[in-house]
Order: sequence, then C-alpha cells, then structure tokens
Amino acid sequence: MSNLESILNFAVDIASQAGDLIVKLRSENHLHHDYKKGIELVTNADIAADELITQAISQRFPDHQILAEESNPNFDELALNDAPLWVIDPIDGTVNYAHHHQMVSISIAYVVKGKIQAAVVYNPFMAEMFCAIRHQGAWLNDQPIRCSQTQDLNRAIFATGFPYDKTHQLPQLIHRLHAMLEVCADVRRLGSAALDICWVALGRLDAYYETVSPWDCAAAWLIAKEAGAKCGYFIEPNGGIKHELHSENILITTPALFEPMKKRLLNAQLG
Ligand code: IPD
Ligand code: CA
Ligand code: CA
Repeated sequence: MSNLESILNFAVDIASQAGDLIVKLRSENHLHHDYKKGIELVTNADIAADELITQAISQRFPDHQILAEESNPNFDELALNDAPLWVIDPIDGTVNYAHHHQMVSISIAYVVKGKIQAAVVYNPFMAEMFCAIRHQGAWLNDQPIRCSQTQDLNRAIFATGFPYDKTHQLPQLIHRLHAMLEVCADVRRLGSAALDICWVALGRLDAYYETVSPWDCAAAWLIAKEAGAKCGYFIEPNGGIKHELHSENILITTPALFEPMKKRLLNAQLG
C-alpha cells in the first residue's frame, strides 16, 4: 500500500469515527448552541468532533501541522513551516446539523507544500464517503465518480452559499446570484460547501461558486478535480494563501461551463 493510500485510510477511519459521534450526539439531543463572534453558530458536537480528529492526527503524526476550524484556525502561523498539513472542518453545515437537516459533512484534507494530496468528505447522515488521492481518482463509497458533461448554461444547476455576516456584502452577493440565475436553469443553497463541491464532482450539480475558508473547500477541491471538474477562481488570487488553499471567489464546474460562468461572475462585480 502506498503512503498516500495509508494516509487516506487513516483519514477515512477518523472521519467515520467523527461521523458516528456527531450522529449520536444529535440523536440523543445532547446539543448545546453557541455563537462565535456573536453570529457563527457552533455546537458542542463541532468541538467534540474537532477534538477527536485533531487528537488522532497528533498522536499518529506528531510532526504534522493542523489547521482546524474550531481548535486552530490561524493560517498565518503555519505559513513558514514545510511539514505536512492537515486541514479540518469537523462539521461543515453546522446550521443544517443543528436544525436536523441531512446536508452535513466532515472534511479532512492532507496537504504537502500547498498541494492537496488526499481528501475525505463524509456525510454520516446519508452514509456517503467521498475520497480522492491526487492523480489517482475520486470515489464515492469506493465507486469511481465523474462530474457531469453539461454543456449549456441554461441547463446548469449551480450551488452557492452566503457568509454568516452579510452586512456589507449583501448587494454584491445578490447581484452575482441574479447574474447567474438570468442564464442558468436553477440554484440550490444546500448549506455545506464541502458537499456542494462533492455534488459537482458526482454530477448532482453542474457548478458551485462562493468565498469560504480553507477548511470548507480543501478536501472537496481535490475530490472535484480528480472527478474531472475544473477548479479555479472567478477572480484570480492576488498573493496571500498558497494556491489550492486559497478559498476566496472559488468557482468549480463541469469543464465546459467554467469559462462562461467565470465571465458572467466577473461581469457581475459591483464597484
Ligand atoms: C459553512 C457552510 C456553508 C457556507 C458557509 C460556511 P460551517 O460552514 O460551508 O455552506 O455557505 O460560508 O461557513 O460554518 O457550517 O462549517
Ligand atoms: Ca465549514
Ligand atoms: Ca465548521
């Protein structure tokens, strides 16, 4: 077994343990809600899953770095170090989770020198485990997956999302959405960026765009790429975070739709 295969098996194992934990906590009604910065919902299950995953990684790989939404979200402190990096969202779709919806995932990416090498996105409520290894493919529950081959914008179903704090950005977000809805078939707001992207990888959706954080999209980015989707940006990054972990203005689509959607979103830039 290659090194990346054993890394992936380890990531699948901890994602499935974290999945069991968050399913149990919710089914037993053991949830407490809190709000980071007064607005971002977080539950005790987010914290417990973060702890389970980060402790397992630190025990097995004491020299590796971890960027995890709840326990270590500061990217800048990691930037100078070349050790392998794990990027974790313990629950992506916390609002869905707390409202007993199904679109909830655990996202784990393994990154070496800014490049995502192995990835897992697990939805424990739908028993769907998405995985990928760089240059080797992407799978859903061990079956290879491919993105859709939709060619026409007017047949395309896209997903997007909105930040918790919408105060200053709402006009821009709505303008972009308006521009996309004018030419596409329809939109879905599913509430987990990682699953939105995996659904593009699987062909349930044709495209996704949003600005998120690295832990929301790192694992799913590799899964989509390995499934044949085009992964990039509708506004190119201007320095800052290394490529592939840059998470602003992301656009992930089936290949034929990337350029027309990029143009559409760029043209919808206000000011
Ligand atoms: C959120 C989800 C959502 C996206 C938000 C994210 P969280 O992550 O991915 O789909 O629109 O921007 O913050 O808070 O549930 O981990
Ligand atoms: Ca998230
Ligand atoms: Ca989260």
